[in-house]
Amino acid sequence: MTRINPITAACLVCFIAISATYAQPKSIPQKVDALIKKMTLAEKIGQLNQYNGDWAATGPVTTDVGNKLDAIKRGEVGSILNIVGVQHTRVFQEAAMKSRLKIPLLFGQDVIHGYSVTFPIPLAEAASWDLDAIKKSARIAATEAAAGGVHWTFAPMVDIARDPRWGRVMEGAGEDPYLGSLIATARVKGFQGNGLGNLDAVMACAKHFTAYGAAIGGRDYNSVDMSLRTLWEFYLPPFKAALDAGVGTFMNSFNDLNGTPASASHYLQRDILKNKWGFKGFVVSDWGSIGEMINHGYVKNNYEAAEAAINAGNDMDMESRSYINNLAKLVAAKKVSIATIDEAVKRILTKKYELGLFDDPYRFSDAEREKRVLNTPETIAAARDAARKSIVLLKNNNKVLPLSKNDKSIALIGPMVKLKKENKGFWALDVGDENQVVSLYEGVQQHTGNAKLLYAQGCDVTDTTRTGFNEAYKTAMQADVVVMAMGERFDMTGEAKSRSNIHLPGVQEELIKAIVATGKPVVVLLYAGRPMVFDWTADHAPAILYTWWLGNQAGNAIADVLFGSYNPGAKLPITFPRTEGQIPIYYNHYNTGRPAHADNDVNYTSAYIDLLNSPKFAFGHGLSYTTFKYDNLKLSKKSMLKNGNIRVSFDLQNIGDYAGEEVAQLYLRDVVSQPVRPVKELKDFKKLMLQPGEKKTITFTITKDKLAFYNDKLDWITQPGEFNLMIGSASDDIRLQNNFNLDN
Ligand code: GLC
Repeated sequence: MTRINPITAACLVCFIAISATYAQPKSIPQKVDALIKKMTLAEKIGQLNQYNGDWAATGPVTTDVGNKLDAIKRGEVGSILNIVGVQHTRVFQEAAMKSRLKIPLLFGQDVIHGYSVTFPIPLAEAASWDLDAIKKSARIAATEAAAGGVHWTFAPMVDIARDPRWGRVMEGAGEDPYLGSLIATARVKGFQGNGLGNLDAVMACAKHFTAYGAAIGGRDYNSVDMSLRTLWEFYLPPFKAALDAGVGTFMNSFNDLNGTPASASHYLQRDILKNKWGFKGFVVSDWGSIGEMINHGYVKNNYEAAEAAINAGNDMDMESRSYINNLAKLVAAKKVSIATIDEAVKRILTKKYELGLFDDPYRFSDAEREKRVLNTPETIAAARDAARKSIVLLKNNNKVLPLSKNDKSIALIGPMVKLKKENKGFWALDVGDENQVVSLYEGVQQHTGNAKLLYAQGCDVTDTTRTGFNEAYKTAMQADVVVMAMGERFDMTGEAKSRSNIHLPGVQEELIKAIVATGKPVVVLLYAGRPMVFDWTADHAPAILYTWWLGNQAGNAIADVLFGSYNPGAKLPITFPRTEGQIPIYYNHYNTGRPAHADNDVNYTSAYIDLLNSPKFAFGHGLSYTTFKYDNLKLSKKSMLKNGNIRVSFDLQNIGDYAGEEVAQLYLRDVVSQPVRPVKELKDFKKLMLQPGEKKTITFTITKDKLAFYNDKLDWITQPGEFNLMIGSASDDIRLQNNFNLDN
């Protein structure tokens, strides 16, 4: 037998160990590079192709592609959306494991405000101004979704929206870039948790990139035309915040921006997102938006659309089939380079590695975990808390609210009283038991104990018959107090749900008039996904709660507020116009050369001769059952250097009888600047709970970034000069003022 020299043996072992190390790619980039080297062009293009899973179409379904499982086995699909439940994702993943390279599928879903347990619609949650609660809600939605087989949520929607005619205003965080940026951050961190690869994390998606909320006329999918300065000042900040929070993907938008469809915008997707901001994730188109370039008149056909989109930085094609049908031909014609294809494929594969899908393609398809994680009591309790925090007390004359425990009989009147699953609002998933959704009637019933509950529908949401009025009137006359539940249908906001008339629909306001005429104390609850117009009600109903669409726990949360077990502290994240003719109206507007000096000042001023100048309810408005006193404003100095700061402090005291939360808001105004600045901009806020009598000192710190803005050359600058400082309970309820200077 040949004896091996021990030194030789040792060298041999070392060599094997070293070669083994170098042969096996260790880092994700190395793994991606190694994999892409093995891929054919067809397999690379397959990774850029996303199909709908046919469980629910969230867009116009176009030509059928035949058997999608066969396409997956051929390596022609990189991602599937709208698959619900682990047993279905497993079937599709098994098909992917039959492809040549066994590249796992990415499962995407619109988990916008909850998965199995639905939370309030995002605009309602934004009204809470409670960033921890918003993050927690996204965290819970992600935990449930990941247990349900979802890898990737198409959320948060971070579009700034100033036009309530636009149905998708319900999906975002309202009109303000500062609040919208903080909420975008909270939602991304909530969805992605401790990072991709964790079993309770889903990859988030900042959408819709960009300026989709500025659709002309508030008409969904309509053109957007704005200066780049407005784009940078108001519409991009929440996207940059999402990117800074580590969002894994972006979704572009249906609209054209200044004539270029977002899917074809090199400026948006490469110049800004991938180059200036250094985004390393990938961009998915919105449903069919690449193919819709033809409708836009931007290209002649899908071949040109695919060329425009991939070269502009759109990595994945949702449902337009443009990539799968044309990219190989475009490469052959040298209109698209292999390098461009490879860059897109690498971005997508990187995310699949980060999610751990190559280690275990079925790691999110665990039926036992799905059963254990969904619909837990803790989740249901969190949904109730999020709902309570979203309810805005618009008005409470004569302290009609909270309702007295001594009310012997309560009349519940209106079309929303007994609604169940509609409370989930738009973009809710058909997951979980709809019977778990608590109606207003059920919530009040559980709260009232021995009070007698009376009910009459009175009218339907949109019908014009008044035949139910009489019964409603008689029901109200029998009660000590009346609670009316009115509003839009849940599907009158959401995608493709723009309204030219945002009045309370049908004959509802007439019903409210009839019930108020009884002289009984009346509380009006308004269910909607947008600001509505309800002028008479706002002026004559003694108490109004804006209850949005609050999700599974709606009835309990509203009852908690009605009966005072929760004191409402929410604030409007968007301006409520007096009527459609006043749109667009938003708080952070410029002063103009002829500002109105009073609400009815029409003397050669920028005003309507037939309407007061102020909104019906202002950005930041929201009342409480208690009263807060602001005083003792102090500034650490009256002028600051560019790299200095000013500490602002004031006292906030609860001088009422209820413990309650206040959102103290800080607004600044750059008095003289070029270009001009808004009359006020939200630059900080503090939400805190105060017991009756309790006083706390609140401190804000003014730093340069709160004073900076984009000039005409899009440089992020500050200019020396005077700033007004305003602290208040709403943008139109300023309690403390002062000013300071920014020196050179
Ligand atoms: C829809 C929406 C988008 C959604 C996508 C997938 O058309 O515009 O927000 O994420 O398609 O459902």
